[in-house]
Amino acid sequence: MALQIKKDLVTTSRLPETDFDNIPFGRTFSDHMFVADYKDGKWQDARIVPFGHFQIHPAAMALHYGQAIFEGMKASISKDGTPMLMRPEMHVTRFNASATRLMMPEVPGELFLGAIRELVSIDADWIPPAKGSALYLRPYMFATDEFIGVKPSQTYKFIVFTGPVGPYYPKPVSLYADTHYIRAAEGGTGFAKCAGNYAGSLLPAKLAMDKGYDQVLWLDAKEHKYVQEVGTMNIFFHIGDKLVTPTIEQDTILKGITRDSAIKFYRSEGIEVEEKKLNIDEVVEAYDAGKLNGVFGTGTAAVVAHVHQIAYGDKIMNVPHGEADGYGQKFKTFIEELRAGDIEDKFDWIEKIKVRETA
Ligand code: COI
Repeated sequence: MALQIKKDLVTTSRLPETDFDNIPFGRTFSDHMFVADYKDGKWQDARIVPFGHFQIHPAAMALHYGQAIFEGMKASISKDGTPMLMRPEMHVTRFNASATRLMMPEVPGELFLGAIRELVSIDADWIPPAKGSALYLRPYMFATDEFIGVKPSQTYKFIVFTGPVGPYYPKPVSLYADTHYIRAAEGGTGFAKCAGNYAGSLLPAKLAMDKGYDQVLWLDAKEHKYVQEVGTMNIFFHIGDKLVTPTIEQDTILKGITRDSAIKFYRSEGIEVEEKKLNIDEVVEAYDAGKLNGVFGTGTAAVVAHVHQIAYGDKIMNVPHGEADGYGQKFKTFIEELRAGDIEDKFDWIEKIKVRETA
């Protein structure tokens, strides 16, 4: 049975008040949002409503015990005005892996993707056309049982809202490899996109910023020497002629979809990508040997963020970046052109969205 979504649409759009030349990440929200409720063991009451506040019970379990997960996706628009998603089904799979880890119900692909397609179609005019800009989509789910006590909630909300965004990192970033605080340990929730992972990163990030760095480069929880990720993005090191990135076989690292796209892209270009348990000493050795030719992060929000400096203990590594980081720049250009519909979709990653006919 096709997904039924009730619609209550705005009569006056806020779009005319929005300046696409000034859309710092995460501050502008488009006209509508999708909402569905999970109760009595099933998802129900799927609806698209005006974006706005909602009421929440003070004892809602997500606020206390942290059953809250999310995804980050982007819609772009081609020159001929067709809205496009990239690999949306990968986000469904990852969202449901996060849900399973946090004892939350899965959101069926039909509901997840149906919500996204309809919302993007309705708010297609909110997709900023400039390269490097996009309509950011934020699907998320949280526990709503009104209860004090640690157990899985029986009720949840699944919501998707959207907003036009520019680059998440407008400038190359510096990283502080933390040898004290950790983001994730084996057996934990590191691979899940759950709110608590981000909350736990805030104090170490603040301390790194106090030392003059933009972000933390997370190392493993036991030995504090195996590189994991940056929290907002996965990480690649351009060493000699190849790229090296931490393996995601362990459950401590987010299974980045942009990371996966990057690996497939580079391999198709004949560039070697090695996925391995990566000791930070190897990065230092490569730097000392003059072989660290670039470092960059990948993520939906970040796309490709160049890294200009890494601090590890007393070692400060200044890395070629921007245009000088040929490999990072190559993938960034590819993604931007793919998202603008300027090049052939040779990997079959793009889904075109039919725009809703207005009356
Ligand atoms: C994304 O890459 O979409 C994320 O969710 C990361 C977040 C820090 C914005």
